[in-house]
Amino acid sequence: VHPGWPADLGPLRVRGGVVTVRPVRLRDAAAWSRLRTAERSHLEPWEPTGDAPWDARHHISVWPGMYRSLRAEARKGHMLPMAIELDGQFCGQLTVGNIIRGALRSAWIGYWVSKDVNGMGVATAAVALGLDHCFGPVGLHRVEATVRPENAASRAVLSNVGFREEGLLRRYLDVYGSFRDHLLVAMTVEEVPGSVSDRLVRSGRASWA
Ligand code: ACO
Repeated sequence: VHPGWPADLGPLRVRGGVVTVRPVRLRDAAAWSRLRTAERSHLEPWEPTGDAPWDARHHISVWPGMYRSLRAEARKGHMLPMAIELDGQFCGQLTVGNIIRGALRSAWIGYWVSKDVNGMGVATAAVALGLDHCFGPVGLHRVEATVRPENAASRAVLSNVGFREEGLLRRYLDVYGSFRDHLLVAMTVEEVPGSVSDRLVRSGRASWA
């Protein structure tokens, strides 16, 4: 048994509606495949390069295998593979990966949200809920994220929740066909007085649903 898994996070109300975060499910296949296929141009520039063409990697038949491996990683305590819902509808994913315990107690966080609901505070709320979960029940000390400098929307999300910039990682990750520079941002538990969600609510970006 690993602390913090499984868990349901939220709700938090934002401009677009009510945001909740919960473990991925086998029955997310259709919504996942439909959004990921339709929104290729929105997602592909920011995501790790895959070893098969986009449509093949996002066919509905791919999800069950991916779901099982995500769940196996979660059960081993290595990962928190979550779905983001807006008003109860699947609209993206929030993933905490490379969970290391011991003296490091660290992980990375990553996310995507359907362009249909972009600019409404959904990713900001989901990441805030994820961070509070990491620093609370999961017991982590540090959470980091990497983002392409060109990804203005994602940088806004990271800054909204209070990530601090640590540096530029040159040719860090194979994204959209090339090794791309990434900004490294991080937060440690000492930087969170109370909770990240509380801070979001106090700043007027979200409210308790
Ligand atoms: N330039 C500057 N700011 C922008 C731009 C832009 N081109 N586009 C959007 N924004 C701002 C919005 O105004 C908003 O700012 P605000 O909160 O001050 O109003 C902010 O960016 C976005 O905040 P949210 O509404 O909380 O985020 P959203 O739900 O729209 O999701 C996300 C943003 C996740 C980046 C989404 O567009 C997406 O999935 N993009 C494709 C995949 C991706 O880039 N994922 C992140 C990879 S990096 C990582 O995972 C650490």
